[in-house]
Amino acid sequence: MRDFLEISTVGRDGLEAILEYASADLPKVLAGKGVALVFEKPSLRTRSSSEMAAVSLGAHPLYITDAEVGIDKRESAEDISVVLAGYHSAIAARVFDHRVLERMAGSLREAAVAVPVINLLSDRSHPCQAVADLLTIQQRFGGLQGVEIAYIGDSNNVALSLAEAAALAGAKVRVASPEGYDFDAGTRDRLAGIGEVSFGEDPLQAARGAKVVYTDTWTSMGQEAEAAERRAVFGPRFQVNAALMSRAADDAIFMHCLPAHRGEEVTDEVIDSPASLVYRQAANRMPAFKGILYWAVAG
Ligand code: CP
Ligand code: NVA
Repeated sequence: MRDFLEISTVGRDGLEAILEYASADLPKVLAGKGVALVFEKPSLRTRSSSEMAAVSLGAHPLYITDAEVGIDKRESAEDISVVLAGYHSAIAARVFDHRVLERMAGSLREAAVAVPVINLLSDRSHPCQAVADLLTIQQRFGGLQGVEIAYIGDSNNVALSLAEAAALAGAKVRVASPEGYDFDAGTRDRLAGIGEVSFGEDPLQAARGAKVVYTDTWTSMGQEAEAAERRAVFGPRFQVNAALMSRAADDAIFMHCLPAHRGEEVTDEVIDSPASLVYRQAANRMPAFKGILYWAVAG
């Protein structure tokens, strides 16, 4: 069994295997087993896709909210994960603080319990989303090698996992974020060490000739108090609109992990255009999670 906390720790071979599993007809390796899905934050796509993917491998998924378990309030993250491992073959969690996932995985390893922990989004990263993103790009362009991807907006959890995954897969990533909302120097160096990832503050330059234009919300879950300030920093320069899309390749696609804030990071015109693959991308969360879960428990 293997934890799935970050794309970078999964590595190139792991990512390749997960993408293959995502497109394969897999045996029901989790027949009669439980999969715990713990959510500290709301979700539409991640909950539905992980539940249905678990069912497709024969498992019984159990959705658990933080209101019930109270991570580090009612019980410690360590106690919760070791107790859940008594009933479930995998523990997947969406948390505010990424370190909670690391503590969960650490407590299971310390207790010599062979139950993987899967990251369903943390403040640091969203690796399940990145697998679905690669699947979508692969389906559209027939591969990932050399595909130019422009990520426009906040250098957030989605951006980090996308950059790691795309770089590992041989794509070329250009990230454009406003100063102060970009990756720190250490993260930039680390990403550039994985593959072709570059950084700047000019959305139009990043978009030039790109096959994929990707954006995400300017205000992630947990940052709501900063929303007005962020709108002032990002808008209107970092909005993906028709003018920005016109800089990209003629056959460029638009991607967004969703939920979208129409009129902020993307216009209706772009997200509702034929170039937009956002619903395909959302649907791909299901096969992506099937591949991740299979890799984690049986790959
Ligand atoms: N993209 C994504 O993770 O959506 P949810 O927050 O609805 O799960
Ligand atoms: N960056 C967003 C992604 C939501 C799926 C957030 O963390 O809220």
